[in-house]
Order: sequence, then structure tokens, then C-alpha cells
Amino acid sequence: MKFTFCTLERPEQILTEKADALVIPLSEGGVREDVLLPLLDGLLGGSVRQAIEDEQFTGKVTQSLTLHTLGKLGATRLSLLGIGSKPSGVLLADVRTWTARAVRGAFVKAKRLVLCLGGVPADQAAAVGQAVVEGALLSTYQFDKYLSGERKRRTAIEEVVVFLPSGVSTEAAAIGGERGRIVSGGVMLARDLVNEQPTEMCPRRLAAVATQMAEQLGMGCSVLGVKECEELGMGMLLGVGRGSLEEPRFIHLTYRPKAPPRRKVALVGKSVTFDSGGLSIKTTEGMLWMKMDMGGGAAVLGAIQAIAQLGCPDEVHVLLAAAENMPSGNAYKLGDVLRSMSGKTVEINNTDAEGRLTLGDALTYAVEKLGVDEIIDLATLTGSSMVALGNHTGALFSNSDSLATRILDASQVGGDDMWRMPLRDRLFDSLKSDIADMKNSGDRYGGSISAALFLREFVGDKSWAHIDMAGPVHAEKDFGHVTKGASGFGVATLVELLSPRQ
Ligand code: BES
Ligand code: MN
Ligand code: ZN
Repeated sequence: MKFTFCTLERPEQILTEKADALVIPLSEGGVREDVLLPLLDGLLGGSVRQAIEDEQFTGKVTQSLTLHTLGKLGATRLSLLGIGSKPSGVLLADVRTWTARAVRGAFVKAKRLVLCLGGVPADQAAAVGQAVVEGALLSTYQFDKYLSGERKRRTAIEEVVVFLPSGVSTEAAAIGGERGRIVSGGVMLARDLVNEQPTEMCPRRLAAVATQMAEQLGMGCSVLGVKECEELGMGMLLGVGRGSLEEPRFIHLTYRPKAPPRRKVALVGKSVTFDSGGLSIKTTEGMLWMKMDMGGGAAVLGAIQAIAQLGCPDEVHVLLAAAENMPSGNAYKLGDVLRSMSGKTVEINNTDAEGRLTLGDALTYAVEKLGVDEIIDLATLTGSSMVALGNHTGALFSNSDSLATRILDASQVGGDDMWRMPLRDRLFDSLKSDIADMKNSGDRYGGSISAALFLREFVGDKSWAHIDMAGPVHAEKDFGHVTKGASGFGVATLVELLSPRQ
């Protein structure tokens, strides 16, 4: 898809611009004040005003209005897009959503879409460029590998032309657009990895994806097999993976900046490539989506792909403790006691609380082997986080207020909805064990909090944040720039956090 940025020097310019669709976002006030509407209305013989009145189009976020222009305008179709009266305060996120809606709303054969963005401040040119590209690319994503014929329906849109107000730098917008393409590439990689069937996307395959990416982008990569994990004492990762024919892998990617690093950061992603629950087996219903249990690992891989392309002042370590959680004659059992890499022992009272085990060893590796300054983990960890916050919101836990604030700020730009949750020490009581240092599964109430408290046992005094993304890892329907299926949640936030924008 091609993106062209230009400025609207005279309003009349828009009347002759050739397009399959001309889209104008309008706020509730904009319906009355917009300078283009009277012009368009004049040329279209009053039909714009008429349609606005008949449809009671007031610019509400839920509204949109489309007219055929029957050759009276350069554009075949004119669409007014209601954007409400309350901007979120983050223009990048808003423009991303508007673009996604514009692209989705275009008719099937539309090739050239013109988007008219009035009111963009000059210092937001790059942000708007980035937002348009992300909105268009991400909302037209399709996982079509296993679809045949007709249903493989990629978008027909070949070009998106953006008109910015006079005086706004189109060069800056185009540079922002390049960034948008790279971020979208990371998000779409994460979506692809999560959407792939679980038998394909096993620990071996995740390792292959990481190895290939490292080669292409000049990063360091090491993949540890069972023997090496044993030598490191990763009893929790190995315990979880024991029941599967697919052996676990510990995957470690390293991005090093050219200049001496400002600090060292670890990104840890839960990478359970299929979560059957193990011997505490799930129901069919509960197991149906469990190919997405490597969504955290997919997110950190997508993020590092973009970060390596954009550059980052920090040394970034990406860690995936990948395993498949399966029942078998060799599976780990309830009552087993696993010895973690940290030395802490864990009594297993539910083999379905496996994510915290695999993550615990990865966190210890980050702390002890890498000595990082800061750790962020992303994990589809608990159904309980969905009970608390619903389907679209990630649960953020952190032992550092400043890190939590930075992540929440980045998530607003990235378009990943998150809410901070408390680490309440009292809930650790339910993880106490009579025969080991702790149990792996606690009380049902506050389940996402006790899971986070379990992870906290492995980070020592490091600055750490944990994002439980069980809900938002996939979407039940298209919404904004997110398409049905895997969402790529977390990628844009991590890139915003680690790769500075100009
Ligand atoms: N992968 C699941 C969490 C999950 C549930 C993600 C639903 C997405 C949708 C995790 O391994 C799990 O099974 N968690 C258990 C924990 C419990 C046994 C303490 C859960 O949430 O029920
Ligand atoms: Mn589980
Ligand atoms: Zn799981």
C-alpha cells in the first residue's frame, strides 16, 4: 500500500482530486463549521446538507455518511466520518482509529482513498503520518494462509492520500509514515505467530523465527535445548514441558545499540505454544483458543523486530521460555515439587497454572545471568484478569510507579488499552505451601493478582512490570485498527516505550 502526504493550499483543490473515496472526519462541531462542506454541497447541488439532515448526521463517533457523487466531483464517493466531540488527547491514537474506520468503510473495489485531515498542528505531522499508515495497514490485515479462493480477499486499496493543513510538513509526515510501516510490521508478525495453528507454532518453530530475525537484523540469538536448561537448573520450564513430544526451548535475542547502552532492559514473553491445562486438563471450551498462549512471546518478538529497525538507546534482551503444556505418561503431576532456577521450590497444585512457572525461570535468567536494570513481561496469564477488566484491557502490575506510568503513557499512544492493578501482599497467603517454598496456584479470587505476586518472587529488587494480556490477545470482532483474531496487543506500546520518536 502506498501513502502520499500533501497539503491543502486552497479548499477548492479537494473538488478535483481523483479518488474512489474522499473521506472527511467531522467532529460534532465540525458539521457546522467545516469549510469544505459548503463547497462540496454547492457542487453536489445541496445533496450533502440534505443527506446530513435526513440521516441526522451530527458527527457522533458511531455515525458515518456516504454519498455517490455521480461524476460531479473528482472523487466517486464522499464519506463523512463522525469523530465525536471528545478527542482522547492523543492525536496519534485518534488518527489511527479514523483511518482504520475510513479504510474499512471504503467499498470493496476502492483503490485510491483520499483522507482530509484539517486541524492537524504543525508539530504533529510525524505522529499523524505514523497513525495513518498504522491505521490503514493494521485494519486490512488478514491471516489468509489457510483460506482458499474467494475468501482470500485482500483489500483493493492501493494508495492512501492524506491532505494536511497548509504549513504542515509533508516530509515529516512521510518520515512518520515509515515508522508506522515498521511498527505495523511488528504488530502483524505478532498476529501471524498467534494465528498460526499450534502444531506448527511449537517451541522449535518459535526458535526458528527468532533465529532468522536475528540474522536478518543483526541481533544476537541463542537457543537453549533441554540439556542446557537442565544445566541452568530451569526446573519449572522443564517441568511444564515434560509432558509434550515437542521439547521446550529457551530463546534469547539480544539487541545492542551502536553507542554504549543507556541501560539494559529485558522483555519476557509467555510462550506456552499450546495450553491444554496438562493433567489439570481444560474443557474443550476452555482449550479452544489456547494456541494464543504464546501471545506474550509473539508480542516481544514483534516489538524487537521493529525496535531493531528503528534503533533504541538501550541494550534489549528478549526472552522466551517456550514449552507446550500437555498431559501424558511423562507429564508433571499435581503434588510434584519443582526446583526453580532461582533455587525456590514450588509445589504443583494445578498443572494449568503453568505460565508463571515458565516465566519464573525466564525472570531469574534476566536477573542472574543478564543483570538487567529493568524487566517487562507480557503474558496471557490468567482468566481472572478478564473477569476483572473484560476482554479488551490488559492488566498492568508493577513494583515501580515510574515504570508503570511510562508504560501507561506509551500504551495510550500505542493504542493498547491497559489498567494498573495492585500487588496486594495479603493475597500471597494462598500461595503458601506446607512442603515447598510456595504453591503455583492460589485462591480463585484475585487470581491475576496472586499470579503476579508469584512472578514477583523471581525479580528480586529489579524494577519490573507484568502485563497480563489474556483478554486483549485476540479480538472477537473488528474494532478500530484491530482485526478479528490475534490482535498484536503490546507490540506498539513496547516500541513507543523503547524507540524514541523524533
Ligand atoms: N493460559 C491460561 C490463561 C488464559 C485463560 C488465557 C483464558 C486466555 C484465556 C493460563 O495458563 C491458565 O490456565 N490460568 C488459569 C490459572 C488457574 C489454574 C490458577 C486460569 O486462569 O484459570
Ligand atoms: Mn494454563
Ligand atoms: Zn497458559
